[in-house]
Amino acid sequence: MYCVKKVLEDLLWIGADDRRVPVFEGVYEVPNGMSYNSYLLLDDKTVVFDTVDKAVGEQFFENLKYGLNGRKLDYLVVHHMEPDHAATIGNLLLRYPDVTIICNAKIKTFMQQFFPEVKDENVQIVDESSALETGHHKFVFVNAPMVHWPEVMMSYDVEKKILFSADAFGVFGALNGHIFADEVDFMGDWLDEARRYYTNIVGKYGPQVQNVLKKASTLQIDYVCPLHGFVWRRGFGDFVEKYSIWSSYGYEKKGVCLAYASVYGHTENVANILAGKLVDRGVDVEMYDTSMIPASNIISAAFKYSHLVLASTTYNNGMFVTMENLVNDMVAHNLRNRKVAIIENGSWAPQAGKLLLEKLTTIPGTEFFDNKITLKSAPGASTEEELEELANAIAADIIPAPKAAVPKGELVKAEVVPEAFFNLTYGLELLTTKFEGKDYGCIINSAAQVADSEVKSMAISVINKNYTCELIRKTGEFNVSVFTESVPFKVFEHYGFQSGRYVDKFADVDYDTRLANGIIYFPYHVNAVFGCKVVASFDLGKSTLFIADVVEAKTLNREPSATYAFYHAHIKPKKKPVAEQPEGWRCKVCNYFYEGAELPADFVCPLCNHGPEDFEYVPAVKIEKKKGFVCKICGHFEPYEGDALPADYSCPLCNHGPEDFEPAEM
Ligand code: FEO
Repeated sequence: MYCVKKVLEDLLWIGADDRRVPVFEGVYEVPNGMSYNSYLLLDDKTVVFDTVDKAVGEQFFENLKYGLNGRKLDYLVVHHMEPDHAATIGNLLLRYPDVTIICNAKIKTFMQQFFPEVKDENVQIVDESSALETGHHKFVFVNAPMVHWPEVMMSYDVEKKILFSADAFGVFGALNGHIFADEVDFMGDWLDEARRYYTNIVGKYGPQVQNVLKKASTLQIDYVCPLHGFVWRRGFGDFVEKYSIWSSYGYEKKGVCLAYASVYGHTENVANILAGKLVDRGVDVEMYDTSMIPASNIISAAFKYSHLVLASTTYNNGMFVTMENLVNDMVAHNLRNRKVAIIENGSWAPQAGKLLLEKLTTIPGTEFFDNKITLKSAPGASTEEELEELANAIAADIIPAPKAAVPKGELVKAEVVPEAFFNLTYGLELLTTKFEGKDYGCIINSAAQVADSEVKSMAISVINKNYTCELIRKTGEFNVSVFTESVPFKVFEHYGFQSGRYVDKFADVDYDTRLANGIIYFPYHVNAVFGCKVVASFDLGKSTLFIADVVEAKTLNREPSATYAFYHAHIKPKKKPVAEQPEGWRCKVCNYFYEGAELPADFVCPLCNHGPEDFEYVPAVKIEKKKGFVCKICGHFEPYEGDALPADYSCPLCNHGPEDFEPAEM
């Protein structure tokens, strides 16, 4: 039966999903399947925009027949001849022999290679000066060579501002009933697969993608209809921003993608130790075992992060096979502008490091750390020290070095850089002040610009019970450090979930970065800092609203600010429910669990065939759940039997009141 979705009143999605395809293009694992989009315009003329992969051809033809509802098919616009979109053109011509195919000259050449039966008279060639009018819509065409093949073009509807973007802005994964990107949490749930799709499918062609983005930036675009994934009708700017980063070989996050190839675990051991040291220094790390994780996932992570650590054992006098495959892919996908650290292993003739260096040197913009580490079979006497040095070198490159403290009495010129305000979102900030020579601070989520005149002003609100609030009332001065998406949760635990009344939060910090007002600011995972002087304050009962002139503002980097939504979705750890377990018997060999008080004497494990002698008794685990309330800010659970927390209750960790708690059982 037909399965179509409405994009606009006269535009239907008539594509289909394939959830049984194991590998897309024969190489990229797609555990969530793949979508193949086709669109049907029902204007005065009828137009199909691209066909689909042959695996879903029958569904497509049912959709098309339903959509046409007996009307003639006038045009087929072909944007791309790769068979995942073009395989059913021949079949379509058999069913709709009078259709006119609209495409550029190169597409026609490719089409007649795949389908010699396509006659010249079936095809109407267009170029960037052509237009196709269908009644209420008018289409012009934009060539997009190498996004993803050389013949690719896109169509733009100048009336309804719709861009048919071919492979661009696609994503791996089948659709789940949704058709619009704004119907899902795209940036949260789909971005990783969108990045893996982009980097592996068109990652090599960054300059060509940049050209298309440049052309597209001159158009008003209300809808984007790609050949895979979701239709965009709002929020598209965030995705374009990612494309801009990926296609210019920038990075989304400062941090390390650490990939290792280890046969007997010694190289892996060293990779783990290095990762631990990096994390201790505040560096974000994602680790991949090249023998277990497909190269496409690691390529995607390598595009995401600014730095790479590659650790490989030597194998057949070369790199280990899975590392060689990965590095060949990096070269093929042209992953530029990364700084790379190398660890090699080899029992008698370590070669992997030299070969890694040779391969990666061919990619423009690649830099290397001097601290190459060579293992002979296993970590040796000097390995610990070498790892320390490498971790220090990487961390120094990733985390900006704290600037020297402002010497006492020395005046530093305070400058207000307007771009710093671009980093203010509904996000999270560290609020700091200084009282009687000592530093204080707490987390807020309330900084906003409130005036943009000659003097720029900022508003913040702080919970009255926070000691920092009390001190700002006295000092009238504060700094605001704006957190980026890379900020780890431990920063919130340290500055947000304990009180400066009892704990010196700045006693053991490894930075002493200060603005001209002498107040400390946080230099890590922060993209902008503001120095402020209070001009008015309003006691709102539970919190105080401070209005302040911004006397200094500067940007530290261009990493995205952590919005409050991002914090909840990606930074704050999710509480895992503790499962109850019935009484039973566990097989000591394979872990099979038999539920029941008595294990039958003739019982045979259905997984490993072992008998009762290899089972051990496991008592029931009962979880006594307590009724109470959980803090939405910091996760603190307050056992409480009543229907609502007392009005004067405040969280012992973060000082937030009952309005920030929700009922829970734990
Ligand atoms: Fe989705 Fe290049 O094909």
